[in-house]
Amino acid sequence: MLDILRQRRSVRFFKPSPVTSEQVEQLVEALLRAPTSRGFRPWEFIVIDDPEMLEKLSMAKGQGSAFLARAPLAIVIAADTIKSDVWIEDCAIAAIVLQLMAESLNLGSCWAQVRNRPHDAERTANAYLKELLQLPDRFAVECVIGIGHPVEAKIPHPADRLPQNHVHFGAYKPS
Ligand SMILES: Cc1cc2nc3c(=O)[nH]c(=O)nc-3n(C[C@H](O)[C@H](O)[C@H](O)COP(=O)(O)O)c2cc1C
Repeated sequence: MLDILRQRRSVRFFKPSPVTSEQVEQLVEALLRAPTSRGFRPWEFIVIDDPEMLEKLSMAKGQGSAFLARAPLAIVIAADTIKSDVWIEDCAIAAIVLQLMAESLNLGSCWAQVRNRPHDAERTANAYLKELLQLPDRFAVECVIGIGHPVEAKIPHPADRLPQNHVHFGAYKPS
């Protein structure tokens, strides 16, 4: 697991080659095995590989979602907000499980934040995506994860540059 974490970086440029159906199956299984508070599983995962839809997903935000148009696959992570009061945590956990699964398959991925982000001056990214994906009112979109074969090998974060000052043994010590 540490090997996967050591090599993981956010990838926003992908080769045109598709993510295979076997890989999609494994990604989906990983998502469905993600832990949720009280086992409520409030999430819904929308798997998208249609180029036109990927293009539309990429327009969810003015900034920070354009890379989705270059990805051969995207998974929208949304939740039924009535099912759990901690759907945000459940969705975020599912998202990182997905990203680490992708990394283990030598696929690159990147998170596009949706919750609390604008689409434009009038609409939220959440409202835009809910309309696009025809999600019920009580649903909310947490994020979209773009996935594909990385174009370039990004340099891992070096071990000696990790922010060790954020770790406190025994008691918090301001740095
Ligand atoms: C909660 C969260 C939201 C993020 N939102 C975006 C986003 O909207 N667009 C984007 O391109 N990257 C997004 N990222 C990726 C971060 O920019 C990236 O993880 C960070 O710059 C560190 O780079 P690394 O993942 O390569 O270590 C997000 C990451 C997280 C964890």
